[in-house]
Amino acid sequence: SLSLLSPYLFSYKGRNFTVQEGLKPKDLDALQHVDVRPSDIYMITYPKSGTIWMQQILVKITDAVYPHQEEDATNRLRFPWLEGCVVDSFQGQRPDPRLCRTHLPPDMLPIGVKAKRVKVVYVMRNPKDVLVSLYHFAHSWKMLETPKSFEAFFQDFIDGKAFMGSWFDHVREYENEKDKMDIHFVKYEDMLKDLRGEVVKLCDFLGKDLTDEAIDHVVEMSTFQNMKTNPKANYKDLVEKQRYSSPTMRKGAAGDWKNFFTVAQNEYFDRVLEEKMSDLPLSFNWEI
Ligand code: A3P
Repeated sequence: SLSLLSPYLFSYKGRNFTVQEGLKPKDLDALQHVDVRPSDIYMITYPKSGTIWMQQILVKITDAVYPHQEEDATNRLRFPWLEGCVVDSFQGQRPDPRLCRTHLPPDMLPIGVKAKRVKVVYVMRNPKDVLVSLYHFAHSWKMLETPKSFEAFFQDFIDGKAFMGSWFDHVREYENEKDKMDIHFVKYEDMLKDLRGEVVKLCDFLGKDLTDEAIDHVVEMSTFQNMKTNPKANYKDLVEKQRYSSPTMRKGAAGDWKNFFTVAQNEYFDRVLEEKMSDLPLSFNWEI
């Protein structure tokens, strides 16, 4: 069930993966058998929904609880990207609790995530800003094709032809898994509005009892300003290695889509969202 969409993307089991990273369907299938421990923490996102932000928050929560484990390594290495493991080697020796991030849909996850009731944090962002962020990322990340135009990219995103496929399916599938997984949903915009409040909820979900001071520190280390200048958190090494041509810390706001969508595109997007998602109990913040 593999099909080549372009020299950059292939589709497998309804999701789009990069060709040039060398990940093959058999590698994706093998990920289902990755060793999972009940203490593992998985973070799941559709791309550009706040992955590296939540990565920093979870690393800092972990550091607060296990200060002796704190490392000098980047979050990228401490908190590996599951389907990037062919490139970055996933299965290294890491102390518990092991952090892992992925963009995979539920049916492609390691089987142990469900079977062992692993804690899963799912970060969701309003899809108009996801689209705009991914549009910029497609200019930056060498693995993706530079969009021909915003219009073309806009349509590809809606048609599920962008990296990782349909945002609508991703969100729907995880929404449907709510009762089958130990999953905590976080909205990007809620983190923008009240980061501390979201960190407190996360600690509750994870069963981590942090002092007020420790929570303040997690929050402080995870602001846009601080992450922008923290090479352990902001993936700057990938800019240096020329895998990205621009920083992942781009705007970090809600509502940037207004600078890109035409009125007609916005109306069309709203119609698609209504058609595809109105049966789900979801609401989005389109601006802050
Ligand atoms: P923009 O491109 O809209 O600026 P991901 O990590 O999933 O690839 O998502 C990247 C997006 O998250 C980028 O959005 C980036 O700026 C934003 N981001 C990263 N860290 C952030 C933070 N601390 N606060 C707010 N936004 C952040």
